[in-house]
Amino acid sequence: MSVAKKEYKRITVKSLVEMKQNGEKISMLTAYDYTMAKIVDEAGIDVILVGDSASNVMAGHETTLPITLDQMIYHASSVIRAVQRALVVVDLPFGSYQSDPKEALRSAIRIMKESGGHAVKLEGGKEIKESIKRILHAGIPVMGHLGLTPQSIYKFGTYTVRAKEEQEAKKLKEDALMLEKAGCFAIVLEKIPAQLAKEVAESVSIPVIGIGAGNGVDGQVLVLHDMLGMTHEFNPRFLRRYMNLYEEMTSAISQYVDDVKTLDFPNDNEQY
Ligand code: KIV
Repeated sequence: MSVAKKEYKRITVKSLVEMKQNGEKISMLTAYDYTMAKIVDEAGIDVILVGDSASNVMAGHETTLPITLDQMIYHASSVIRAVQRALVVVDLPFGSYQSDPKEALRSAIRIMKESGGHAVKLEGGKEIKESIKRILHAGIPVMGHLGLTPQSIYKFGTYTVRAKEEQEAKKLKEDALMLEKAGCFAIVLEKIPAQLAKEVAESVSIPVIGIGAGNGVDGQVLVLHDMLGMTHEFNPRFLRRYMNLYEEMTSAISQYVDDVKTLDFPNDNEQY
């Protein structure tokens, strides 16, 4: 299928809105380090998310709650050093913005100043409206995040599909309109029914990027290590694995172990 695709030297928040207007879908992946970010950027991704999923993927925590602002800044600054083209969005971690708008602004400023990130992402709707406004007033672009918001996992109790009930769907639609009105440049919708996500995307002029939210939205995001098949215990229906790097890497590493043990490595050409 042919797709509308304009060449962009550098992706900005304005480019994303333009893509939505032109019907060009937005591609987004996570990255947390220099080497991976360089590959992802050179492959042509539009948006790199330095997600707080680093807490799971990089640090092995069960949830996203433990990762700190300092750790997010470390990951984001590594990513920024690699990126030439993509827009880099950085998650504000749990505990860095929920208590009051001043704290939220201080955290967002630290991310922008110390990592060089281009925008921040916050989870939630009307509960954090004042924090979002405060950050936007300081000239920092904000991406919203609704639906399954993993920082609230202990409130939800599970990672199942959100907003299946009328009341929660209604609140999600209202929150999306509020985020647009407040001035957010985009919204992530995580794990909600495809029809609801489509309705939200049609109701706002800013791009809506989905993960487990169907194909009626303006773009898609996945966690890089999941789509490359480096992780293998996590198998939600929405996840398409483009490789099985877990198998390829374990096979390469066990080959190396054998080669070292059998004196096959290094050979005559691999030494001085
Ligand atoms: O932290 C993350 O990786 C995210 C995506 C799942 C959207 O927020």
